[in-house]
Amino acid sequence: MGQKDVNSNACKIIILGPPGAGKGTQAEFIAQRLGLPHIATGDILRDEVKRKTKLGQKAKEYLERGLLVPDDLVIAIVKERLAGKDGFILDGFPRTREQAQALEDLVNLDLVLNIKLSAAELIRRLSARRVCADCGRNYNLLLRPPKQEGRCDLCGGRLFQRPDDQPEVIKQRYEVYEQQSAPLVQFYKERSILREIDGEGAVEEVLQDVLKAVNNND
Ligand code: AP5
Repeated sequence: MGQKDVNSNACKIIILGPPGAGKGTQAEFIAQRLGLPHIATGDILRDEVKRKTKLGQKAKEYLERGLLVPDDLVIAIVKERLAGKDGFILDGFPRTREQAQALEDLVNLDLVLNIKLSAAELIRRLSARRVCADCGRNYNLLLRPPKQEGRCDLCGGRLFQRPDDQPEVIKQRYEVYEQQSAPLVQFYKERSILREIDGEGAVEEVLQDVLKAVNNND
């Protein structure tokens, strides 16, 4: 990684890793810490599906089946979201070589975090994830259960399981990750901006490693 001060709101970070590695969890912390917008393509696509927009209708089946939404659609979303932003933390993008190339044509990245997690642990975590239908808050029945079963602590909304957190779809998402997204680790290694993060520990332990990488002081 270069010597640029990444503790600023002009910092451009992406976060890679298999499904359930903890990208969203860690990205939220970094975004708060550095005052950066957290741009998560999965969240954006799920919102489009929920609102039944044209894009949502096109994306729905891909999400449900655990497949990647076509590059042109996702690249267009990201271009629009990044416009006018000096810094950001991008979560869930890029996922293909074509997306990585499009991003490279658009911005100079400061840091790429790659969270590593075993298949067994990601299946365990994703199977236990629940999401509030109203405010979107994430729970985990193993790690962070709600106070009242099936209800959001914050707004009382109904908790549901993401359709793509069913075991067979998790398996599909993992295969897609291995085939199409894992090769991006090498892409960014070649650019010397990649930092590997062990995702197996508790959230706070992983966060410490992430912050070290962000501060470039390990
Ligand atoms: P997306 O929403 O990006 O899904 P994903 O990459 O599979 O990631 P997840 O949200 O499942 O997991 P995460 O790594 O963020 O982990 P989290 O922090 O939530 O994408 C969904 C779909 O959208 C894709 O399949 C595709 O169809 C489409 N899509 C999105 N981007 C696309 C793109 N660029 N191109 C094409 N299609 C695209 O944690 C998971 C669980 O573990 C939570 O319950 C959490 O509480 C828990 N947890 C987190 N950290 C820990 C820890 N350290 N210890 C214990 N539990 C933990």
